[in-house]
Amino acid sequence: MSKQVCLCKHVSEESIQRALDHGTTTLEGVKAATGAGAGACKGQRCKGQIHRMLKDKE
Ligand code: FES
Repeated sequence: MSKQVCLCKHVSEESIQRALDHGTTTLEGVKAATGAGAGACKGQRCKGQIHRMLKDKE
């Protein structure tokens, strides 16, 4: 199973990667597509890693 990136919303690295592969280029886009960052901690725990994944994609 792919690693969980967003613990609040149970969003895996794979789901986020899929959103990026479909052309998502912003944190807001990832949030809209997967729900990651929209949980109880408001992205405190997962934002850093999502940013890293967005950056790797550039
Ligand atoms: S871990 Fe992603 S919103 Fe809390």
